[in-house]
Amino acid sequence: MKRKDSTTYLHKIGAIADREGVDLYAVGGYVRDMILGRKTGEIDFVAVGDAPALALETCRRLNGHGFVVYEKFGTASFLLDGRQFEFVTARAETYHVDSRNPEVRQSSLDDDLRRRDFTVNALAMKVNRKGFGDIFDPFNGRRDIKRRLIRTPLDPERTFSDDPLRIMRAARFAGQLNFHIAPETLAAMAGEKERLKIVSQERITAELLKILSHPKPSIGLRILQDTGVMEIIFPELAHLSGVEQRDDYHHKDVFAHTLKVVDNAAAISDDILLRFTALVHDLGKPAVKRFEEGLGWTFHSHELVGERMLNGICRRLKLSNEFKHYSKKLTRLHMRPIQLIGEEVTDSAVRRLLVQAGDDVEALMTLCRADITSGNPGRVKKHLANFDHVVQRMQEVEEKDKMRAFQSPVRGDEIMRICGLEPGPAVGRIKNRIEEAILDGTIPNEYDAAMAYLHEIKDQYSPPH
Ligand code: CTP
Repeated sequence: MKRKDSTTYLHKIGAIADREGVDLYAVGGYVRDMILGRKTGEIDFVAVGDAPALALETCRRLNGHGFVVYEKFGTASFLLDGRQFEFVTARAETYHVDSRNPEVRQSSLDDDLRRRDFTVNALAMKVNRKGFGDIFDPFNGRRDIKRRLIRTPLDPERTFSDDPLRIMRAARFAGQLNFHIAPETLAAMAGEKERLKIVSQERITAELLKILSHPKPSIGLRILQDTGVMEIIFPELAHLSGVEQRDDYHHKDVFAHTLKVVDNAAAISDDILLRFTALVHDLGKPAVKRFEEGLGWTFHSHELVGERMLNGICRRLKLSNEFKHYSKKLTRLHMRPIQLIGEEVTDSAVRRLLVQAGDDVEALMTLCRADITSGNPGRVKKHLANFDHVVQRMQEVEEKDKMRAFQSPVRGDEIMRICGLEPGPAVGRIKNRIEEAILDGTIPNEYDAAMAYLHEIKDQYSPPH
């Protein structure tokens, strides 16, 4: 079923608001994305009046489902055709320094827009019949959309102090929309970063995963690092920054390398587990970094140290066991395919990795490919070709193993019955002939064909009468 155009809903919902005598506006991301010409999803509405009552009436009339109401916050939502509709009573909020929970009171549209995070999200569009489509833009959000700028409607310290998660949201929107952050907003992110300590881990982790889910996660991650926010929310990652030089040797900046790996992984795959693993796969490096005379910088066993670190990190980030198991496994194995490059790689070495990687072998190879971040295109090409060779070796070994496990579709007892044989070596030889014929492609791997073949050759084996 084709999803209805969002303006069809807006007209219908506006008509219901008219009947109920409530002024209603679409707000936030929906208006921003509409102006940007981006695909819109969830629609948020601000009602100057009782939003939960209007939401219930709208849900009933339009046959929505999954109605949820939070009376305390004056909000309610429901689903319709797979789209979420959220209604909020226009409100003003006052925050206290040591708490995330604001004092809320019903207020005007202007007050409601003022309490929002960024000017590009503080836009409202009227949906009542009279004035449908009129845009309310008290903080020049449209100008900032044109300038591709993230800026807070009020003093940024206040906006971030009210809800410190907005510090991360600024980095996220910069990446998601490919906007830059206004200098005073950026400065306030750095200045207010300690306030993130009062935000729940669940909200922080959800925001981090959102940053990872956009096409170029490095934009948001780099902003978090440069503002010192990463040091607060993910110190192990922040500590990957920096380059040391000794004699003629310097190593790559592991943080910069990690960002490239995450972007590379994001370019090939939407899988959030893989993107998270790309982010954490080198976390063990600082702990094992050593300078070895004549050899340069080494990071022996960093994959094992990194794997161990992920126990505590995933627990602290409140990530699911799926994240933990997957990222640990791929981190542990991420150096292994490289070790399979070379002349003398035995089948058993390839087989060991295949068994250990199991169903995740493809993801592991994707991670390894993403891990090639050399600036030299010739070298990248060479490394990628090496991985193609490893994949080919894996396929060969798998193929051989399949052959070894191959069994004739005709069973031994049938062979004995048809050939009139007692159990003995002749039965095995006949079975082998059938299997060989299938492997050679003389006959297809099917019961009927194998049976016909058996009848053809059986006289060569049947005991004399
Ligand atoms: N908002 C805010 N402060 C927050 C979270 C949300 O001011 N910490 C406001 C913003 O006006 C935002 C709206 O609530 O536009 C809806 O929030 P959300 O759904 O999280 O973001 P969207 O802007 O809709 O963006 P997207 O759907 O792309 O995440």
